[in-house]
Amino acid sequence: MRTMPVMTQALTTSGSPGTLSGTVALITGAGSGMGAAFARRLAADGAHVVVTDINGDGAAAVAAEIAGDAITLDVVDSAAFDAAVDATVARHGHLDILVNNAGIAPPFNATKTQQLIANQIARMEGRIGDLVPSNTTIELSDADWDRMIKVHLYGTFHGTRAALRHMTPARSGSIVNISSVTGLRPMAGLLHYAAAKAGIIALTKSIGQEVAAFGVRVNAVCPGWVDTPLLHQMDPIVMGAIVAQVPAGRMAQPEELAELVRFLAGPESSYCNGDVFSSSGGVS
Ligand SMILES: NC(=O)c1ccc[n+]([C@@H]2O[C@H](COP(=O)([O-])OP(=O)(O)OC[C@H]3O[C@@H](n4cnc5c(N)ncnc54)[C@H](O)[C@@H]3O)[C@@H](O)[C@H]2O)c1
Repeated sequence: MRTMPVMTQALTTSGSPGTLSGTVALITGAGSGMGAAFARRLAADGAHVVVTDINGDGAAAVAAEIAGDAITLDVVDSAAFDAAVDATVARHGHLDILVNNAGIAPPFNATKTQQLIANQIARMEGRIGDLVPSNTTIELSDADWDRMIKVHLYGTFHGTRAALRHMTPARSGSIVNISSVTGLRPMAGLLHYAAAKAGIIALTKSIGQEVAAFGVRVNAVCPGWVDTPLLHQMDPIVMGAIVAQVPAGRMAQPEELAELVRFLAGPESSYCNGDVFSSSGGVS
């Protein structure tokens, strides 16, 4: 049997294992929560991080902490995303890592939550006739549907396309897309979020196959429940009920997800491409 030559090019994505020294990373939604933790983690291993967020103040604060660059960027705006990536390459000469992380959650709705709890109790007691329809889908507006799909799915596409224009000719690069366990196991009431996150998984697999032979890697991370400002709007009683169903018995800290993103960003994950990784405390 002939042995295939190892594609050493793919291993050069981010220097030697253990360091990201000399690499440049751009992270979206990095002014808060997980994105900020990713920025700190990559910077700790030597990457120069371009911290981007629709919230310019958040991006500036995180960039100042890690001596990175800050760019105010709405990922829905494809021309602005192209400009941010092009400016990064013009300034630093290359872009090695992109983390498509920016995201939003549906606003918390107290009435629907009460209804959900009442329905769960009715189900447990076998009172199926008492179940009340949530009507989430019927009541979802075009604007809310559009925004959810645009921030997550369009945003990830915009960033990936902009980065590949530089990474493919360079035959080097790692793109990490932040999906969710909701994209793997959709739950009622989150149809647009689930559809967007499942779309990110499909996009990751397709593009990962497209670029795999050309030194570029594209992978997805599916976090479970993570303690970030995204969830702070939720009712504490609902959060308590959610966490009670997590086999690990707790939410993740953003720093725990940052370890997985660090692995996928660097050469240690050289044979991961178009792959999907959960970190969910047993939920997925
Ligand atoms: N927290 C969780 O439990 C959880 C679980 C699974 C997946 N996720 C995903 O992780 C990612 C990060 O979320 P987080 O929990 O850190 O939330 P977060 O609210 O702390 O951070 C999200 C960041 O994205 C930014 N953002 C929102 N819309 C943007 C846009 N259009 N352009 C650029 N930036 C934008 C926000 O300003 C914010 O800084 C999201 O994609 C989210 O869907 C979160």
